[in-house]
Amino acid sequence: MENCFFKRDVISIENFSREELDYLLDYAAELKRNSSKFKEVMNGKVLVPLFFENSTRTSMSFKMAMHHLGGSVLDFDTDASSLKKGETLSDTLKMVEGYFPDVVVLRHSKDGAAQLAADILSVPLINAGDGQNQHPTQTMLDLFSIKEAKGEVDNLEIGLVGDLKYGRTVHSLAIALSKYKNVKIYFVSPESLKVPQSFLNELREKGVIFFEYGLEELENVAKKVDILYVTRVQRERFPEGPEGEEEYQKVTSRYCLKKAMLDGVRANLKIMHPLPKVDEIEISVDSTPYAYYFEQASNGIHIRKALLYLTTTK
Ligand code: NCD
Repeated sequence: MENCFFKRDVISIENFSREELDYLLDYAAELKRNSSKFKEVMNGKVLVPLFFENSTRTSMSFKMAMHHLGGSVLDFDTDASSLKKGETLSDTLKMVEGYFPDVVVLRHSKDGAAQLAADILSVPLINAGDGQNQHPTQTMLDLFSIKEAKGEVDNLEIGLVGDLKYGRTVHSLAIALSKYKNVKIYFVSPESLKVPQSFLNELREKGVIFFEYGLEELENVAKKVDILYVTRVQRERFPEGPEGEEEYQKVTSRYCLKKAMLDGVRANLKIMHPLPKVDEIEISVDSTPYAYYFEQASNGIHIRKALLYLTTTK
């Protein structure tokens, strides 16, 4: 297959076919196996990271990925930028465009910010998370990790747990899973953080088999899945003001995956989490063979190297 990522924006997981995702995952696997071969391939190229929301893993792994490939990263601090003086995102992007970057990575709190940026920029724009909408590179590394642990994504039973209303990682992942065969999704969430109806309709149209459960079913669901993907309640996604605070207080610290719940789970269960985790997984779970989240996070570097390289190199 030819490099189908060249000059392409990465806005939503929806835009990529299963074949294209497979191509990327295979490429990332080759980068993981053979990293020394790719040490200089981005020599002379510059990444502009624009993180307008907090980030540890995504930001760090994109920057490290660029360094590993021999490219450079613009040292740009969004906190100290003119956005603080009231400059619009589009004006900032028009200016960035004028300085000839090779690739731009954007994280922003507004749904749709990535598309807006891509419409302004002529170089590839990679979405590192836009509001509640999408987090495609997280999903790519999730798929990579699932494939590495299980050999395939087809035919798996996957539990998605936590904030399914606002969580962009689960939104992206559920759409991605619809591209694979015979995957069953078990949604587990507090009543007020269920997957939005419109989203469920979309999954239904795509032929995805899914089931919805309340938090009391967490332990039972843990016993019938191959992957349990846990997410935190994200305070920053709730509406501002007293109503948002009230909604948040009702659900915060209401669920926790405990080690004791893992008796009788499938022998090769993998527990995943996009991180950061707060209190939704008991710390003692970290040392069980089921905990997979730190390896999952580490796989981010291979996927992001593959994306940076493939979007900028023919
Ligand atoms: C996630 C995000 O930003 O959506 N984090 C990440 O990129 N690994 C999940 C989260 O913040 O809860």
